[in-house]
Amino acid sequence: MAYQNDIRFLLNGEEKTVTDVHATQTLLDYLRIEQRLTGTKEGCAEGDCGACTVLVGRLRDGRLHYETVNACIRFLASLNGCHIVTIEDLSGPKGRLHPVQEAMVEYHGSQCGFCTPGFVMSLYALWMENPQPTEVEVETAVQGNLCRCTGYAPIVKAALAVNQYGNPAHDHLTTERNAVTTRLQALATKTRIETGPADDRAILPADLADLAQVLAENPKATIVAGSTDVGLWVTKFMRPISPVVFILHLEELKRIELSDEALTIGAGVTYSESQTAIRAGFPHLGEYWDRIAGWQVRNMGTIGGNIANGSPIGDTPPVLIALGAEVTLAKAGSTRSLPLEDFFIDYGKQDREAGDFVSSIRIPRPKPGQIDAAYKISKRRDEDISSVAAGFSVTVGSDVITEARLAFGGMAATPKRAAQAEAALVGQPWGAAAFEAAAQALAQDFAPLTDWRASAEYRQIVAANLLRRFHLEHDSANDTEAAPVRLAIA
Ligand SMILES: Cc1cc2nc3c(=O)[nH]c(=O)nc-3n(C[C@H](O)[C@H](O)[C@H](O)COP(=O)(O)OP(=O)(O)OC[C@H]3O[C@@H](n4cnc5c(N)ncnc54)[C@H](O)[C@@H]3O)c2cc1C
Ligand code: FES
Ligand code: FES
Repeated sequence: MAYQNDIRFLLNGEEKTVTDVHATQTLLDYLRIEQRLTGTKEGCAEGDCGACTVLVGRLRDGRLHYETVNACIRFLASLNGCHIVTIEDLSGPKGRLHPVQEAMVEYHGSQCGFCTPGFVMSLYALWMENPQPTEVEVETAVQGNLCRCTGYAPIVKAALAVNQYGNPAHDHLTTERNAVTTRLQALATKTRIETGPADDRAILPADLADLAQVLAENPKATIVAGSTDVGLWVTKFMRPISPVVFILHLEELKRIELSDEALTIGAGVTYSESQTAIRAGFPHLGEYWDRIAGWQVRNMGTIGGNIANGSPIGDTPPVLIALGAEVTLAKAGSTRSLPLEDFFIDYGKQDREAGDFVSSIRIPRPKPGQIDAAYKISKRRDEDISSVAAGFSVTVGSDVITEARLAFGGMAATPKRAAQAEAALVGQPWGAAAFEAAAQALAQDFAPLTDWRASAEYRQIVAANLLRRFHLEHDSANDTEAAPVRLAIA
């Protein structure tokens, strides 16, 4: 069958058609090496520093959305039908600096300048979306940008002042929105795309049925959603991953349905796309979601990828397991759902058959009497991987604990429930004694590893303290005065 064998997109104002795109060619290499757009920098090549930040505009439900991404771990082949906006595209009226650039100059937001294009792109996206941000919103927007020189305060001041230098309604991404939408609609592809050489082949299925077909034909293919894990396999480990099946463009995997019973999220939904529904359905996860990676990675990374990668330190599995989430897997001709906790069999081993892909996650809404909490312990507050992550869902009726689901990440080879600690809680009156017994029982549930993130002893102590903290935070006796929490390291 004949498929489209090129990738078509807009780069700043120009339409590009690139043939024979290698699956693992990063957007950053394309910009810097092929297009000589060297304003976009390479710092870490692993999504951490934000020096490579660009905007990607994409049609979603017929509307054009722009978001920041890390060009160093985003693959060019995944960008068919998108609008890529780089720092070179920024300018103000009559040849002046762009409002974000003017604010950065006025407030001394740049010293050596290496991080500056990345910060400017993150602040540009923030200003377009929210022209008068609070300091906290600025900090959230630049979580994924590192600066070695300025100490950040001048950058935050610049971000708060951008709106004095211009109005986003006059920015060309606003005034040209309709024209760009029309151009992207013309570039949208209804057929499968296959491009690149045999040893670095990229496949973009036309739709969900085609994805199932592609995976049936290529059961060993690497599925790539946001590439925030797989990107590093390429840039850091140079691992061959051909053929690559890209899925982030598939609208059918972008379903978000919030009902009184459950929230169902398609596997291709990113953290940023799911944030509103997550906050609405599970308010305790709002802040937790903001602590996953930085803004650029949240704009790319999917919950489906966080589950499918099988990592014992992914942030979403523990909190979703605690809530009783189910994962749905699909392949040509069949789908099946299973409790998320059963998906993780052992380190690196999940309940996935050849040709299976994760299609959605269903999270039941909390029942009456259910108390939920999510905790992330990491060395840095922002943009860091957990040493220990925990999700607790404890149901209380007439002051007695009727159900307990306590799930942890970072404590075992998989994200795992603490069966002994749960048993110590169920049937007990809500109170310090029950939670102390549960905290002690964790020693039977887990024998964590020591690694460079944390020692086994630290993990064990911190996990027990999270249970004590959960009790203190939700105990009505502590409403007026917080009781002291035992230190993580005694
Ligand atoms: C700078 C940085 C910070 C990070 N911080 C965090 C953090 O704080 N917390 C955290 O948990 N993670 C973090 N991560 C890891 C990563 O962002 C998450 O694991 C993310 O959810 C992966 O999703 P993705 O869509 O990018 O997956 P991808 O990289 O595209 O894929 C990941 C794995 O899942 C498979 N896969 C993807 N989608 C499917 C599917 N639908 N069906 C079957 N298989 C599939 C892929 O084949 C691959 O094995 C960070 C990553 C970076 C680069
Ligand atoms: S180069 Fe550091 S995030 Fe891309
Ligand atoms: S200005 Fe030097 S790294 Fe930020």
